[in-house]
Amino acid sequence: MRVFVTGGTGLLGSNLVQLLVDNGHQVKTLSRSAKKAETLLGGLNVEVITGDMIDIEPWAHYLKDCDVLFHTAAYFRETFRRGDHWTPLKKINVTQTVRLFEYAEKYGVEKIVHTSTNATVRKREDGMPSDESDRMNPDEALNLYGKSKVIGDQEIDKFSQEHRTPVVTILPAWMFGPGDSAPTGSGQLVLNFLARKLPGSFPSGIDVVDARDVALAMIKAAESSIGNERYIISGHYTNLEELFIVLQKVSGIQGPSKKFPIPMVYLSTWIKERIAALQNKETDLSLEELRVMTEMKQTSGAKAIRDLQITLRPLEDTMRDTVDWFRANGMNG
Ligand SMILES: NC(=O)c1ccc[n+]([C@@H]2O[C@H](COP(=O)([O-])OP(=O)(O)OC[C@H]3O[C@@H](n4cnc5c(N)ncnc54)[C@H](OP(=O)(O)O)[C@@H]3O)[C@@H](O)[C@H]2O)c1
Repeated sequence: MRVFVTGGTGLLGSNLVQLLVDNGHQVKTLSRSAKKAETLLGGLNVEVITGDMIDIEPWAHYLKDCDVLFHTAAYFRETFRRGDHWTPLKKINVTQTVRLFEYAEKYGVEKIVHTSTNATVRKREDGMPSDESDRMNPDEALNLYGKSKVIGDQEIDKFSQEHRTPVVTILPAWMFGPGDSAPTGSGQLVLNFLARKLPGSFPSGIDVVDARDVALAMIKAAESSIGNERYIISGHYTNLEELFIVLQKVSGIQGPSKKFPIPMVYLSTWIKERIAALQNKETDLSLEELRVMTEMKQTSGAKAIRDLQITLRPLEDTMRDTVDWFRANGMNG
C-alpha cells in the first residue's frame, strides 16, 4: 500500500510507521518538525512531509497517489495547563480532521483509518464491559479532550453519510509502548515510577493496550474490505496496583506499597492542583486523570479481535519494552 500517516512522531504514529515500513508499505508521514521526525524516524525509508494540521492546504496535495490515510495526529492530553484549550481541541480534532478527510477523498484516497479513543465510550450501567454501541454524548465526556473526540466521532459519522470514502474508526484504550517521546500521560506514569515519584496506589480500573497492537489493528483494518466501522482496541483491564507490580518486575525498581482510599486521593489531588495553579505549575496527577482512573469503566475489544484477527501481547511485554525504550533514550524520569 502507499499510505499517508499523520502524527508519525507520536506514540501510536511512530509505531505505525515502523510496522508499515517493516511490512513493505510505502509511507509518507506528516510532521510539524523535520528535526523531530529525523530523530525519531531517521533510520526508516519514509518520506517526511513537514506541515501542521492547523493549515492543511499547503501539504494536502501529498495525499495524491496514496491508497490509505492513517490519521493519528490530535491535540491530545488527558489534562492541560490553564488557558484556552477548547479552541485548538475543536479545531484540530474536529474541524481540521473532517477537512483532511475531504482532501483525502478529493485526492483519491481509497480508505481512511482514523484514531478516536475509548474515552468516547460510555460506562454501562449493567456492569458489563462497554462496546462500540455505547456512545457518549459530548456532555458526558470526562474532560475537554474526550468531548472533542466525541464531537469528532459525530462529525465523522456525518462525513460517512455524505461521502463515498470509507472511514474505519479505531478507539484505543490507554496506550503504553516504546516510542513515547513526548511523553503521553501513560509514559509519564512510567517515568514517575522509574523516578520513584509515586507515593502509592488507590482503587482504580484502567483499560490498557500496547500501541504496537493498535498499529497492527489499523493496518489490518486498512487491508481488509471493512467499510465504515468502529473498533475498540483494548488489551487488559487492570489497575494501578497491578501496573506497579509489573513495572517493578520489569524495571527492578521497588514500587510504592502504600494504598490510599479514593476520597483521600481526591482531596489531596484537589489541594495539590490548587497550589500548582497558584504557582503556574502542573501536578503529577490531575483531577481529570483521577476521574478517568476511578470511573472503573471496562471496554471490550472483542469485536476487533474477531473482525481484524489481532492478538494482544501480554502486559508484561508492553511494560518491559516501554521501560527499555525510555532507558535506551536517556529518559529515566
Ligand atoms: N496515548 C493514549 O493513551 C491514547 C488513547 C486513546 C486514543 N489516543 C489517540 O491516539 C492518537 C495518537 O496519540 P498518541 O498517543 O500517539 O499521542 P502523541 O504521542 O502525543 O502523538 C500525537 C501526534 O500528533 C501530532 N500533532 C499534534 N498536533 C498536531 C498538529 N497541529 N499538526 C500536526 N500534527 C500534530 C504530534 O506531533 P508533534 O510530535 O509535532 O507534537 C504527534 O505526532 C490521538 O488521536 C489520540 O487522541 C491516544
